[in-house]
Amino acid sequence: MVTAVAQRLASQRKEIDDTLAAFALSPTQLQEVKAKMRVELERGLKKDSHPTASVKMLPTYVYRTPDGTERGKYLALDLGGTNFRVLVVKIRTGMRNSVRMYNKIYAIPLEIMQGTGEEYNMFTIIILYKLRNNTRLPLGFTFSFPCNQTGIDKGDLVCWTKGFKATECEGYDVVDMLREAIKRRNEFDLDIVAIVNDTVGTMMTCAYEDPKCQIGLIAGTGSNVCYMEEMKNIEFVEGDEGQMCVNTEWGGFGANDNIEDIRTRYDREVDGGSLNPGKQRFEKMTSGMYLGEIVRRILIDLTKHGLLFRGRITERLKTKGIFETKFLSQIESDRLALLQVRSILQHLGLDSTCDDSIIVKEVCGAVSRRAAQLCGAGMAAVVDKIRENRGLDNLEITVGVDGTLYKLHPHFSTILKDTVRELAPNCKVDFILSEDGSGKGAALITAVAQHEQFAWIDKYLYAMRFSDETLRDIMARFRREMENGLGRDTNPTATVKMLPTFVRSIPDGSEKGDFIALDLGGSNFRILRVKVSHEKKQTVQMESQIYETPEDIIHGSGSRLFDHVAECLGDFMEKQKIKDKKLPIGFTFSFPCAHTKLDEAVLLTWTKRFKASGVEGMDVVKLLNKAIKKRGDYDADIMAVVNDTVGTMMTCGFDDQRCEVGIIIGTGTNACYMEELRHIDLVEGDEGRMCINTEWGAFGDDGTLEDIRTEFDREIDRGSPNPGKQLFEKMVSGMYMGELVRLILVKMAKEGLLFEGRITPELLTKGKIETKHVSAIEKSKEGLTKAEEILTRLGVEPSEDDCIAVQHVCAIVSFRSANLIAATLGAILTRLKDNKNTPRLRTTVGIDGSLYKMHPQYARRLHKTVRRLVPESDVRFLLSESGSGKGAAMVTAWASRLTEIMGAENSVLGIFILIGTYYFKL
Ligand code: BG6
Ligand code: BG6
Ligand code: GLC
Ligand code: GLC
Repeated sequence: MVTAVAQRLASQRKEIDDTLAAFALSPTQLQEVKAKMRVELERGLKKDSHPTASVKMLPTYVYRTPDGTERGKYLALDLGGTNFRVLVVKIRTGMRNSVRMYNKIYAIPLEIMQGTGEEYNMFTIIILYKLRNNTRLPLGFTFSFPCNQTGIDKGDLVCWTKGFKATECEGYDVVDMLREAIKRRNEFDLDIVAIVNDTVGTMMTCAYEDPKCQIGLIAGTGSNVCYMEEMKNIEFVEGDEGQMCVNTEWGGFGANDNIEDIRTRYDREVDGGSLNPGKQRFEKMTSGMYLGEIVRRILIDLTKHGLLFRGRITERLKTKGIFETKFLSQIESDRLALLQVRSILQHLGLDSTCDDSIIVKEVCGAVSRRAAQLCGAGMAAVVDKIRENRGLDNLEITVGVDGTLYKLHPHFSTILKDTVRELAPNCKVDFILSEDGSGKGAALITAVAQHEQFAWIDKYLYAMRFSDETLRDIMARFRREMENGLGRDTNPTATVKMLPTFVRSIPDGSEKGDFIALDLGGSNFRILRVKVSHEKKQTVQMESQIYETPEDIIHGSGSRLFDHVAECLGDFMEKQKIKDKKLPIGFTFSFPCAHTKLDEAVLLTWTKRFKASGVEGMDVVKLLNKAIKKRGDYDADIMAVVNDTVGTMMTCGFDDQRCEVGIIIGTGTNACYMEELRHIDLVEGDEGRMCINTEWGAFGDDGTLEDIRTEFDREIDRGSPNPGKQLFEKMVSGMYMGELVRLILVKMAKEGLLFEGRITPELLTKGKIETKHVSAIEKSKEGLTKAEEILTRLGVEPSEDDCIAVQHVCAIVSFRSANLIAATLGAILTRLKDNKNTPRLRTTVGIDGSLYKMHPQYARRLHKTVRRLVPESDVRFLLSESGSGKGAAMVTAWASRLTEIMGAENSVLGIFILIGTYYFKL
């Protein structure tokens, strides 16, 4: 008796196992799915195979993911998932995390989903009507079905999928239909700017938070993926430059019978009973709309064989659609006890025993596991394709995900991720959940697409936008340049000079005295008196005055320039009543100088606007001393010449001892940092560190950056006082940025894309747009008004659209600057990290310069990109509040202490002795 029962149970078990075995995919089978998907992705992109490809690879006319420059208020419709939503999306300041959304969900009656096209449109309009107060907003339409797009606002519905089947829609432009229906109502007007697949909306939503997100996945009612593809690979779309998002419509995979080996009888039954038999075969094995149905069919089969529900096939079990994804997810939850599973089944009208519950749970598990694995295999094909597109051995990428299945199911996401990891071992794939649905992404796309100019600008200025990969590449190039500059043999031909400064530590708190600091080379010529006292604690008192340096002096003879400096210094001392004293002077001279000691600085070459004759190749200390002596009315003791980067690092180092990098992003750009002495071939000694003035402005002077320079950069260079030099500086710094924008606007106007083609003499005048204007135009609140003011002054009578377009151009140019600086700074940081041989770098970067300080978004963008490019670092960015003069005084304090110890003649040796004591002190 016992044996008979055991045998029956064993045979029942076998039958169940046999049924479910068809759902267990072996690693080899999954590899095959991945390989086949890969073939279909390629076929979909190729001109000749595209028409017959099962994976349609539809172009979306979305050329880039958001970069934080988007702003405005938009209306978004979101149709095709579980819910139909209407949203108002407000992107406030163009800053990440500043999106406000209000949304309303509407039910879609079945007769509308599957009724006539006419009704479908009317339905949409009725709902829109309720939002009539907002109808003047530009609209982004998330439409979660395959559309053949020929532009961002044109999409012919290829075929309905999932639960929709409204007639007279397939083959027609959905945007047109919506527009016409609106017109027919004759009650309001709407500007439909973009039609967006839900995968694309999801990718955009997530990319707004994480720029690494270049893939969108929906695992919900339906199943689909989009990703950023290289334009040159999309054969049926014109143009080879840049990228475009492709909506794969991978749900159609299998239409050419190539996955029949893994489809089961149940899959075929579900397909047969669907609204679109033969189509969307992959979707029907993987998405929420069908998984429950597959489970139901298996349960019927098992019941027929007497293995479930006491062999009784009830009406309830025969009812299509009773098993929704949410029930599947509940049943599979590990937290539920069997009794609770049983009560869910009973709630569904299925009278089950506890044994039944176990079996049902197993069936659900087998079906959902296969779905997650299949999506994983498909995703592995996509990420591997992207990796190969980019010629990389390893790829790091983020997938933005949405959909009820992914969100609600307890194991789906884990199995999906595991499968991707196994099948695409060279890709590190992160998944982030879209918290806000794809409507936000649709609004972001609308923001970009709203103006015709934007598409043009994005396409035209494509070369000014860099992926993180390109930035990492630039970072690596700059690392090599740094090494060249430091090496004895390579230094003579190096473009990035890596000049030793003879400054060997940041302030240690012991400095004191009364100093004068000269600060020449930025936007202002400043003279300061810096008193550092040391009563209870170190305090600094500063008084300063700005002096004019007229153009004719900057471009005249060197002796005139230094006479002018000496005259201003005389005036300052007079006013300070110290003409009879011989205070030590620190000279911030913001140009590349070769030092052999602190108080000797041979100007290598003028940069920025300076071009006074007879100074290059000379020691500026001597020139200034000569000018002072010639006057004879006061005496001076120039003890140290420092670059402004060094002054900045020292100023910030005064407040934060961890500061070991100084950067300037102002008229010019440059950086210094503390390098290990043993790596500086040009200076004797191995112990301790010395500050190196990189002079990174010259990066690219040997052609290293030609691939990223644009025609505008070349034009700037041609018209500059020093053609062929400081090419990196000319792409990023304040002296050139306004001019870059002007050149772009001229070109746009010439092509009729701005100002109705009007070109005024003012617009054509060099220097008429300054970097401070770019900063004003990019202000979040009054930016557009500023743009209007500035452009009106140029006589071009800008429209509102013109102003928005100009704002966009400014953002692209300034963003490029911040990105490039992030790359070079990233190189310095990784070098510091390697020097210290630490897994994580904690450091402070002192920063100054008008561009960094005045531009409303620059600092934030720079910080963010640096943190992304050098994730293994904790960087504090410290703004130098008091200019580099204070830092120069610190160096001077130090130098004068040396002089006291050693006598003026031998301060170099003295520095080493002092440094010695400093280090021993530590
Ligand atoms: C939503 C999107 O968040 O996810 C929809 O906004 C999309 O457009 C949906 O279709 C997918 O999920 P589901 O599960 O509702 O189909
Ligand atoms: C100042 C420094 O704070 O910043 C100058 O004291 C430096 O020496 C300047 O050149 C850089 O900024 P800008 O924008 O004036 O070139
Ligand atoms: C279906 C649609 C597709 C959509 C997906 C997810 O597969 O065809 O366009 O992205 O469902 O909603
Ligand atoms: C230029 C100078 C450099 C200076 C920088 C910032 O690049 O060559 O010495 O630090 O401008 O002012």
